Amino acid sequence: MAAEDAGLFHEVLALSPMAQGGNLPYRRLCRSFGAQLTCSEMVLAHKLVTGGEKPLLRHHPDEDAFGVQLAGKHVDVMSEAARMAEEAGARFIDLNFGCPIDLIVKRGSGAALLQRPGRLAEIVAAVRAAVAVPVSVKLRLGYNEDKLNVVDLAKRCEEAGADALGIHGRTRAQRYRQSARWELIEASAAAVNIPVLGNGDIYTPWDVKRRREQTRVRSFLVARGALVKPWIFRELIEGEPWYPTAAERFAIMRRFVDLALEHFGDDEKGHGRVERFFLWHCGFWHRYHPWTHDDFLALGDESLLQARTPQAEGDADTLLLASPEEDDHRLIWRRVLDRDYPGA
Ligand SMILES: Cc1cc2nc3c(=O)[nH]c(=O)nc-3n(C[C@H](O)[C@H](O)[C@H](O)COP(=O)(O)O)c2cc1C
Repeated sequence: MAAEDAGLFHEVLALSPMAQGGNLPYRRLCRSFGAQLTCSEMVLAHKLVTGGEKPLLRHHPDEDAFGVQLAGKHVDVMSEAARMAEEAGARFIDLNFGCPIDLIVKRGSGAALLQRPGRLAEIVAAVRAAVAVPVSVKLRLGYNEDKLNVVDLAKRCEEAGADALGIHGRTRAQRYRQSARWELIEASAAAVNIPVLGNGDIYTPWDVKRRREQTRVRSFLVARGALVKPWIFRELIEGEPWYPTAAERFAIMRRFVDLALEHFGDDEKGHGRVERFFLWHCGFWHRYHPWTHDDFLALGDESLLQARTPQAEGDADTLLLASPEEDDHRLIWRRVLDRDYPGA
């Protein structure tokens, strides 16, 4: 590993890898708010080596610490895919052993490999040997409640040469039910000497403060929190909440549209793709609520990400932005496109 990359995973706030959500323009938006590490959407290794998935390797120069995430179960295919990703400019390779989707798990990839520690470690070692850039590994606590083997997996990954671990504090079976279990992330971090990026329910600056106090974890992966409020990275860096006005939120959406048009093209086809992504993102954006420190404390160790979003209060624009209705999302899209919002 190059010396300059040795510190890539130390004390960082990273945008967690996300299919769809981690599209290139959205990553740039999060980067503009301070995300220090970005990652591609999940790339299926067998498709990449047979000529597909190439657009997913692309990144923007703004993303100065961009990695490519690979999923697959074959040692040689994963190694070849990693070489291709490195050649395409990835600063690190992330191996996905957490994906819970049936289609992926049935094929023996993603979270299925949590049940095959030997094969999982073999893939890590082979990819480590195949590329010069750092290799991180994304794990869950285990396949289900009866198989909480993350501490063992963490040690095996380190022995196999992994440079960092991203640990999502849930099992595959659990999906998003219940809050993430940080005590097991902490147990894993205590068992290895490589950086652990803690993952699960980071949504406010108080979450990061709490996890820093309770654990030795110093780097964090943020997923749904960044989909709901891309400015979360600003909050986490400053240690203070930021409550944007409706007009400021419209302006942020516009920034996304500009980045997306730049990426997908400012023609009819590009507009269609940008609209589809925009409407998809509205499904997360409307969940924003200006939670307070008192709200955070009232929930104890439960996460605000798991809490029901209260009825929005405020002016017409604030209510519109909180609407879960697709018709309203289309209205928001039109207004953002036409710059029909206060201060535009
Ligand atoms: C829309 C969406 C897509 C995701 N896709 C991936 C993926 O491709 N690879 C991956 O490792 N995790 C993926 N995840 C999981 C997140 O990276 C993260 O581990 C999980 O959401 C827990 O973090 P959070 O509590 O901050 O949301 C995805 C999550 C979401 C919400």
